[in-house]
Amino acid sequence: MLAETIDLTDAWLRLLGRLHPILVHFPIALVISAACAEAVRAVRRAPGPSPFALTSVVIGASVALVAATSGWQNAFFEGVEAGPDLFIHRWTGVVTAGLLAVVAYCGVRGRSRPDSLEFGFWRVGLTLSALAVTGAGYFGGELAYGEGYIGKAFWSAMRMSTQADVEVAADAQTPAVVPVVEVAGVGEVAKVGETAQGEVSHSAGSQFVTEVLPVFESRCYECHSNKKSKGGLNLEVMATATEPDEQGRRAIDPGNVDASEMVRRIELPADNEDAMPADGARLTAAQIGAIRKWIGDGAPVAVSPGAVSGERRELPEQFLSAQQQCDVDLAVKALTDRGVLALPVSLESHAYEVNASLVRPKFSDADMPLMAGVCCAITNLNLARTQVGNDGLTCLSQMPRLVRLRLDRTQVGPGCAELLASLPKLEVLNLCGTAIDDRTLLGLAASRSLQRIFVWDTKVTDDAAIKFRLENPGVQVITGRE
Ligand code: HEC
Repeated sequence: MLAETIDLTDAWLRLLGRLHPILVHFPIALVISAACAEAVRAVRRAPGPSPFALTSVVIGASVALVAATSGWQNAFFEGVEAGPDLFIHRWTGVVTAGLLAVVAYCGVRGRSRPDSLEFGFWRVGLTLSALAVTGAGYFGGELAYGEGYIGKAFWSAMRMSTQADVEVAADAQTPAVVPVVEVAGVGEVAKVGETAQGEVSHSAGSQFVTEVLPVFESRCYECHSNKKSKGGLNLEVMATATEPDEQGRRAIDPGNVDASEMVRRIELPADNEDAMPADGARLTAAQIGAIRKWIGDGAPVAVSPGAVSGERRELPEQFLSAQQQCDVDLAVKALTDRGVLALPVSLESHAYEVNASLVRPKFSDADMPLMAGVCCAITNLNLARTQVGNDGLTCLSQMPRLVRLRLDRTQVGPGCAELLASLPKLEVLNLCGTAIDDRTLLGLAASRSLQRIFVWDTKVTDDAAIKFRLENPGVQVITGRE
């Protein structure tokens, strides 16, 4: 009975947590409007706080306190890893909520005494609060959608506005002017700023990023990208570029320079109707040489591991061959056709998040092979409430980057521990509502990476949980009865 009441509280706290994204937007809008209203009042030299601003701040402060609490709950229940982004976001949120409460108090006190210290603090504090909510929102975006969620979008908008510069840069072979290069279709990004160039210059993918991609971007994307793919060729999605067309020709045949249709076409004289680019000047000899070399090397593309949390940032730089990239794209398509959500974790990352929990008819062991191609890139996998059982889990051994795994309310049962414990990066594991038992839990002790295991509503006993916690102090076991 006791266990049930605690479960119920947890269920409500989790709901509160999930309301966080709704709650936080309230104070952000209110406080920024209040700061503007107060600024107008200050310019007009009207006495006392703006009544509108004061009301907004009082409401904003109250909601912000609830929002900060809900954020705390949300990070816990959704298994967000404790990384530097979470730390900053959490504390800017809490400090902002506290600051707002103080500002609201000073505003109320300053209403009757416009010359008081409180009134002064009201104005200064309100300005600071407006800046703080903007900051908290910024880090919230980074946390929810990945590093550079706002910053990279900003740079890529800037880049498009200065497209002319990029064209010059590509011609002159000085791609360092391009702040961010991105292959949107495969969610990949690599910086070509000075430092980043230094970092990637020894790796196979870097030639693609520094020499080939700028040519594609400035001379080919106009007709061969996600927006337009003339002749069926989309150079933002490598899978389409390496597949044979109706005549059996491949635009890019990795490793086979002279068999690649792209090379044939860029070397044709301008008056040939097949010549590419279809308009404008011919490519320079250096640009053609770069594309030849890249295809000859197997057409590798650079991969940044798409860091979201501190942990993932430490992964070694990874490169997918054109073939692997193809497999990822095709698997994502097959999964999407089955109704599964398969997306890069952040807009520009190479880590994938796959969620099969909502698919109807339910996802099962027989569907698991659909994941094969994208296994190498999956960091978050949600199989909650699917029909997947121990047999279907075997393909997890192909997922070396898996960090978070939800198996709650699946058919998974005793006997999965050894496999799960062998996943090198697995940190958060949810097994609630499955048939696992004490031996399964104790078997998970072999994992070197696990940080949190959810086992509510299973056969795991308190004794086993206590034993596990004693032997593995670094791992949190959540039974719902603690
Ligand atoms: C102004 C538009 C335009 C630009 C710019 C352009 N292309 Fe094309 N491209 C086309 C059209 C139209 C076709 C389809 C007709 C054809 O096959 O000639 C095509 C077809 C191709 C094909 C054959 C696709 C296939 O599999 O049949 C390749 C390869 C190709 N382009 C490469 C390039 C490359 C590389 C660039 C940049 C250096 C480029 N194109 C720039 C318009 C363009």
